[in-house]
Amino acid sequence: MDKAQTDRTLWRDNGVPVSERFDDPYYSLDNGLAETRHVFLDGNDLAARFRPGFHIAELGFGTGLNLIAARLAWMASGTPGRLRFTSFEAFPMPPKDALRALSAFPDAVRLAEDTAELLADPRKPLIRDDIEMRLITGDARESLPAWKDQADAWFLDGFSPAKNPELWGADLMAEVARHTAPGGSFATYTAAGDVRRALVAAGFDVTRVPGYGRKRHMSTGRKR
Ligand SMILES: C[S@@+](CC[C@H](N)C(=O)[O-])C[C@H]1O[C@@H](n2cnc3c(N)ncnc32)[C@H](O)[C@@H]1O
Repeated sequence: MDKAQTDRTLWRDNGVPVSERFDDPYYSLDNGLAETRHVFLDGNDLAARFRPGFHIAELGFGTGLNLIAARLAWMASGTPGRLRFTSFEAFPMPPKDALRALSAFPDAVRLAEDTAELLADPRKPLIRDDIEMRLITGDARESLPAWKDQADAWFLDGFSPAKNPELWGADLMAEVARHTAPGGSFATYTAAGDVRRALVAAGFDVTRVPGYGRKRHMSTGRKR
């Protein structure tokens, strides 16, 4: 990376963590968990698609809130076997900051310790009866091209494209498509034109759908 490998968590009065490096909140100021469910779970139509071994990948692990939302949905679905969840993260958050952020979500809090454990030793996959969780640290522009796997669904969750353009570039979106299984999907909260065009060029059929709360639009897509 061009800058030192660090970030610092700042806190809004309502308990939402903000990245000092990117000057952007980690999730919606209104209700992070509800937004995650709308954007990433419904946007990838996960409830209808879960099957044993289903593999979700994510750009931007942050607090791990998306992981917990996906895990709760998986548990509620009663799908046998394990969900697989792989997240790419350049600046792993200190576990105590993730715990502080997740403590605001009563639904999430019972799974927060696992997230903190993953952040405490990101090199070690964490395996539970219902899930295999992996963090791949480093700049995703380097780590994703080297990844040897494919995901059924992607959560594209960088900071806003204006503040974190390196996580939305055309080359990286092409790598997302290359690492998507046949029939696989992505969802993201942004409807930025450059990002949508990059995802189309990468090989997705991209749809603009209603966003969460005050956000008018977001994007979803299926691999062609
Ligand atoms: C909006 S936050 C993700 C929120 C997260 N999904 C959650 O559930 O809390 C964006 C994340 O992308 C990470 N990030 C930014 N640039 C990156 C890069 N080049 N490679 C990998 N991760 C990056 C940031 O450190 C941050 O954790």
